[in-house]
Amino acid sequence: MKQKNLNVVIAGGGSTYTPGIIQAVLNNRDVFPVSKITLYDIDADRNEDMRLIIAYMLKQQKHQGIELIATLDPEEAFVGCDFVFSQIRVGGLTMREQDEKIPLKYGLVGQETCGLGGFAYGLRSIRGLLGLVAYVQQYAPEAWILNYTNPETLIAEAVRRKFPNAKMLNACDMTISIEETMARNFGYDRNNWIAQYYGLNHFGWYTSIYDKSLERDIMPELIQKLRGTPMKIASFNKGDQSWQDAWNMLSKTLQYFPEYLPNNYLEYYFFPNIVVENTDPNYTRANQVMDGRLKNTQEMVKKIRQHTDGAVLNFDFGEHGQYIVDMATSILNDSHQRFMLIVPNYGSIPNLRADAVVEVPAYVGRTGAEPIAMRQPINDFHKGLMEAQNAAEKLLVDAYFEHSYQKALQAFTLNQTVSSADKAKQVLDEMMIANKEYWPELS
Ligand code: G6P
Ligand code: MN
Repeated sequence: MKQKNLNVVIAGGGSTYTPGIIQAVLNNRDVFPVSKITLYDIDADRNEDMRLIIAYMLKQQKHQGIELIATLDPEEAFVGCDFVFSQIRVGGLTMREQDEKIPLKYGLVGQETCGLGGFAYGLRSIRGLLGLVAYVQQYAPEAWILNYTNPETLIAEAVRRKFPNAKMLNACDMTISIEETMARNFGYDRNNWIAQYYGLNHFGWYTSIYDKSLERDIMPELIQKLRGTPMKIASFNKGDQSWQDAWNMLSKTLQYFPEYLPNNYLEYYFFPNIVVENTDPNYTRANQVMDGRLKNTQEMVKKIRQHTDGAVLNFDFGEHGQYIVDMATSILNDSHQRFMLIVPNYGSIPNLRADAVVEVPAYVGRTGAEPIAMRQPINDFHKGLMEAQNAAEKLLVDAYFEHSYQKALQAFTLNQTVSSADKAKQVLDEMMIANKEYWPELS
């Protein structure tokens, strides 16, 4: 593997998350020596806007020796590349809005990755990601793909079936973001932590958090603190009420189930009624992102085009970018750092089916992920929840490959945010129409 002059492609280059990822790449040039950055997208305008922002960043921060290109051509993007950071969003925020709003019409959770919204997104996303993996295998078979594209378990399951040997890591920043927010709220240093965690993506639990400097498991005290007072949003999500709501619900979950520290996304499965009541069906998270991050990005572009001097760049994405760059660095330097990864189970959780895709800690080195086995069975409560969710996800991926309406309906019905086959069918039928351009044809 090349150690210098790295060539990195951002797939989904036009995304509003791109500046955060590039900033992390630039901050780490000593350990991750990059010499070419390619923004690859299917939307020329957005990609060009982002190229302007990144070019401005490079200039302002006086980075030299980095070539920057924006392209829609997969061959131009991938030939010669070493790492692909994927954050494509098939259908964009416009379709995210549909994913969120259609279920809400039927009184069901409307969310990007959880519930039926996540399943609708999954049927779009799988196709996009399989296409991306195929391009990378064709044009840069040695490159590593580090994937952030959602819904991660569904993508990992589909890639596992179609390209079992793909050089790809699927990772989610949620655990690191929970940890960082807890550390900032309660005065710890996360760098001292060794976290044990298991689940499916956006669907899991910590079982311990060992603090090396304090020489003890601090999860019990974190749970005590969280049960009393919800966390305040960290500075990287400042002003974002929906993250505050998520932390409030995390505390609520702990009041019911205080044994293990849950992923905040479990709120959609434990309290779908409350979540629905608290959601405005006409103004969902997609709208907030469009009026927030997206607008902010567009304003930056405008200022750059108008040659406005001063504080043009204005973004802070917390750990999101750093996490993916740390993973790439761990591959590059074979340093076996520890990350939460979404991988086929094969014994990591001993009493869960082997071919489930799970999220567990793993060491990352030159040959990829080495997941850590738990060596202890998980409890029946978590196991039951995970098995139902996993079966629903498997059925959905079956539906994708077999073009099966029946399997899709089973998946929608089994989803634990749904209480009725009738509603599942109504949402599925409406989503099929809304996703006509993107889903495989189901019959
Ligand atoms: C976290 C999750 C991602 C998710 C994102 C949504 O980072 O891990 O999987 O996409 O939140 O954030 P947004 O601001 O777009 O609602
Ligand atoms: Mn995630």
